[in-house]
Amino acid sequence: MSQFNRTTVTAALPYANGPIHIGHLAGCYLPSDIYVRFLRLRGEDVAFICGSDEHGMAITMRARKEGVSPKDIVDRYHVMMRDALKDFGVDFDVYSRTSGDKHKEVASSFFKELYDKGVFDTRETDQYYDPEAKQFLADRYIKGTCPRCSYPEAYGDQCESCGATLNPTDLINPASTLSGATLERRKTTNWFLPLDKLAPDLRAYIESHPEWKANVYGQCKSWLDSGDGLQPRSMTRDLDWGVPVPVEGAEGKVLYVWFDAPLGYITATQELFGKDWEKWWKADDTRLIHFIGKDNIVFHCIIFPAILMQHGEYILADQVPANEFLNLEGDKLSTSRDWAVWLHEYLEDFPGKADVLRYALCATMPENKDNDFTWADFQQRNNSELVAIYGNLVNRIMVLNHKFCDGKVPVIGQEPADIEALKNIVKQADAIEKYLEQFKFRDALAEAMNLARAGNKYLADQAPWKVMKTDLARAQAILGVATQIAAALTVLMDPFMPQVSDKLRVMLGMTAALQWSDLCSEGHLIKVGTQLGQAALLFDKIEDEAMDIQRAKLVKP
Ligand code: 2FM
Ligand code: ZN
Repeated sequence: MSQFNRTTVTAALPYANGPIHIGHLAGCYLPSDIYVRFLRLRGEDVAFICGSDEHGMAITMRARKEGVSPKDIVDRYHVMMRDALKDFGVDFDVYSRTSGDKHKEVASSFFKELYDKGVFDTRETDQYYDPEAKQFLADRYIKGTCPRCSYPEAYGDQCESCGATLNPTDLINPASTLSGATLERRKTTNWFLPLDKLAPDLRAYIESHPEWKANVYGQCKSWLDSGDGLQPRSMTRDLDWGVPVPVEGAEGKVLYVWFDAPLGYITATQELFGKDWEKWWKADDTRLIHFIGKDNIVFHCIIFPAILMQHGEYILADQVPANEFLNLEGDKLSTSRDWAVWLHEYLEDFPGKADVLRYALCATMPENKDNDFTWADFQQRNNSELVAIYGNLVNRIMVLNHKFCDGKVPVIGQEPADIEALKNIVKQADAIEKYLEQFKFRDALAEAMNLARAGNKYLADQAPWKVMKTDLARAQAILGVATQIAAALTVLMDPFMPQVSDKLRVMLGMTAALQWSDLCSEGHLIKVGTQLGQAALLFDKIEDEAMDIQRAKLVKP
């Protein structure tokens, strides 16, 4: 028996600085949504939490570039991102935002609580200052060479090449990203989280989770074991966009975005549940899972847990299933270079086909290593898998049932091949369940498709269209088995392609959605005699021209 009675699932809060692209979807939102749908089909109690990350330099730099205010930027993209994710079936229980008043209150009081407990070290340090831009340069406002791997474009907070977390003063040859000014060093006071002192507790926490994905566990261990170990990290910044630091002497400073953003999960939970929110973050029988991309690992596995530990009342994540990065046609996805497939544009070109993209992205999900999305693969998965296997199975079943069974679900055959086919539903359901429990989404999807494949093979072997010429009852019994397989697919494909499952349920005349536990019954998923709906194609072929149009959109300027 599991020690948990409910699950809090968070998906990384995307920066509200641009639309959502396929890299975001494949990295974090699709796996979390698949997982939540799966838990719900098992009847589990889940809260699925997300929202926009509206502070930090991702926002202010975009605003600066466009010559508008940070508020203009977040107001624009918050709505766009929320709607795009919804259109792709990503079904959060709450989609909040960190620039809201509620969040300011939550983040502020959390900081104050730690401050009053004496958790932070107050330090006056030398920081780089850009005299032209008239501001201190933290995080992404400063670039230089990574001291760890020599990557020349490392940011002041993180090297995107080796993943190291950095302070601006660690960079070799630092330069402002705002102006060409010669940098000055000026003294400023900030409040530091003493990660060095917390390292033993963090190590114990990480080492209690050897079951984490190798990419996540390995990265955490390498930080803990690196030469200098964990270093104190400032939780405040000399900036004007963010949550004001709620202590005396901190005028003109805001909370570090990586202090405030993860607390956004808690704000969103409070918005969702009102006064009943606490058990989702504080009860020992709640399982907390953070879905993120690999660049967020240190923040969710080291810094956020350190913050929560210092508070003392909170549970820590039991799993952090981070994905690696998705590339597009062999090149890194990039918002600034417009090298991306934007979700809202995809739906303009392929209306009603959100699930096709979900399928193709799940099949190529960068679970353990970076992976490449290509339009050729997308087309092949649509035409050779969705159309040729799943769609074909459903279409044959629907057409034959209308032709030979008066459009009603026929009796279920009892011959050895029939029993074998029905048992296979249970076997496949078990395999999918095991893979999903381990966050192996690609394998789970492949097994779901294997059930459709097995359904086609069963039909081809039993050939009801031939049998009906001599034995109509037997032909109907074969279709009875095949119809049960289709009903099983409404559940087993649902986490991956929820809109398609809804369509299939309507076609099969199913008035209520099945649960995962119904799959144990070896058939009888849909009642014999149920009136079927109209046959319609679940998928249609995508032609070469449509792919050429997409590739042409990607031509670099
Ligand atoms: O990397 C990002 O897009 C961040 N905005 C993720 C934040 S996750 C959480 F902590 F809010
Ligand atoms: Zn590096």
